[in-house]
Amino acid sequence: MSGLEHLRADFPVLQREIGGKPVHFLDSAASSQKPTSVLEAMDDFYRCCYANVHRGAYALSVESTERYEAARSRVASFINASDPTQVAFARGATSALNLIAHGWGGEHLRPGDRVLLTEMEHHANLVPWQMVAARTGARLDFVPLTDDYRLDLEALEQKLDDDVAVVGVTGMSNVLGTIPPIPRIAEAARTVGALLVVDGAQLVPHQPVDVQTLGADFLVFSAHKMLGPTGIGALWGRPERLEEMEPYEGGGEMIADVQLHTSTWAAIPHRFEAGTPPIAEAVGFAAAVDYLDKVGMDQVAAHDADLTAYALQLLAEIPHVTVYGPADVDARGGVISFTMADVHPHDLATILDQQGVSVRAGHHCAKPLMRRLCVPATARASFYVYNTRTDVDALVEALGVASRIFGVG
Ligand code: ALA
Repeated sequence: MSGLEHLRADFPVLQREIGGKPVHFLDSAASSQKPTSVLEAMDDFYRCCYANVHRGAYALSVESTERYEAARSRVASFINASDPTQVAFARGATSALNLIAHGWGGEHLRPGDRVLLTEMEHHANLVPWQMVAARTGARLDFVPLTDDYRLDLEALEQKLDDDVAVVGVTGMSNVLGTIPPIPRIAEAARTVGALLVVDGAQLVPHQPVDVQTLGADFLVFSAHKMLGPTGIGALWGRPERLEEMEPYEGGGEMIADVQLHTSTWAAIPHRFEAGTPPIAEAVGFAAAVDYLDKVGMDQVAAHDADLTAYALQLLAEIPHVTVYGPADVDARGGVISFTMADVHPHDLATILDQQGVSVRAGHHCAKPLMRRLCVPATARASFYVYNTRTDVDALVEALGVASRIFGVG
């Protein structure tokens, strides 16, 4: 037990019952639930201070702009960025990765350059690079996994040569839970002058992250997976990399000057924030990181580790359940993919749902990884601060029901 069990009371949706059963929400890797403090921060902001930002010469707009920029500072301090201008708000991790791939890669990749990704990337850190490679003549290459579901670091080091312009890696696999050693990868990338892009969508919500020691050039993450609202995420970049990156979207608010035929860009990070930004969402994002900092990210990570170890131990005792991911909790986070014999994961998820247990089933936007695992899909349980061992017990009990229904075991 980690001592965070009381936090569940902060999440209104988890006080519900569905079909007469409590909600055992085990799908936070897809999107997390929201505490009252985040809901209230957004509601208060809409009630008291809402107006568009950077536009009006009137008090409400000034106040709204201050709240928006304060949210940027708050998110920047959460990852220990040395300056808030290193953080651009984006629609989420996916749009931030598209901005990097098109805005940096589209400008700087040349025919023959290689973009080195891994076999376990989410489509968000794969498809944009495929698009940019097709445009620029760059080639994609992939670091394989070891048989114990870790990144093969020897293979990574062998593949790194002077042709590699970008290394793109997930901070934590959304399927396997695998956490690659980013500082070691950063050091290896640096020796060949490659830029390192870290997809932090699963990492930043669950582990303390300090961009000053991480070694990455770019880090992206989404608010909705870390107790905040949908529709906003963050892109952190080293200032020199941000300066090298072209905007991906043009429009209002991102320009210094506009002529009929040409425009010049606003300073970073505003040149990357065309149009009316997600203002109340930024306020909610700041409230979410306030909540996480109050809990303490070390505590969040320890809580995940406790639940993961407990779940891995119980799942190992269930006949015909196969878990995909490192067995060692030090090498992974609280995302557990599994199958039960030849039961389709969608059918399994339906039975678990009838027992009040919410898990995701499918390819988890990682189809190449599914092929590597030789499965079409998995079921996936994922944990966050509001989960308790009772949720894991409910999962195990529901799997027992499923094995009886499907005649497994
Ligand atoms: N990327 C999210 C997931 O893995 C949606 O479920």
